[in-house]
Amino acid sequence: MSLITWTAAQYGTNVGFADEEHQTLFDKLNKLYDLATGGAERSAVGAQLDDLIAYVVEHFAHEEREMQAKGFAGYPAHKAEHDALVGICAGLQTKFHAGEAEVNEDVGQLVKGWLDNHIPKFDMAYAEALNS
Ligand code: FEO
Repeated sequence: MSLITWTAAQYGTNVGFADEEHQTLFDKLNKLYDLATGGAERSAVGAQLDDLIAYVVEHFAHEEREMQAKGFAGYPAHKAEHDALVGICAGLQTKFHAGEAEVNEDVGQLVKGWLDNHIPKFDMAYAEALNS
């Protein structure tokens, strides 16, 4: 079963590129979760972890460029949220590849919880500015 399912009602921002990228991000997270909790080879889990984190970094950079282009006042707080998650992801990535951490149910729930908070609270807040 998928960890997280994108619906417009729960996660729609009314910003086209963001909604598309969030759906791709959810797909990559679900794939990682399925591999990690389904007993896949560790190398496959690691490859998917790297793919997901690279995509998250790319998505955050895209949002940040758009917010800056519009002079969005919420940019600093939003960027700080992004930087915090990237820091957590980078730490996990380093530890995973060193054999010191695993991707497991708790990791999946942590990322899901972060998205459940971040998209409604931060991403939805830029819609008016980015669509202006
Ligand atoms: Fe879609 Fe601010 O992350």
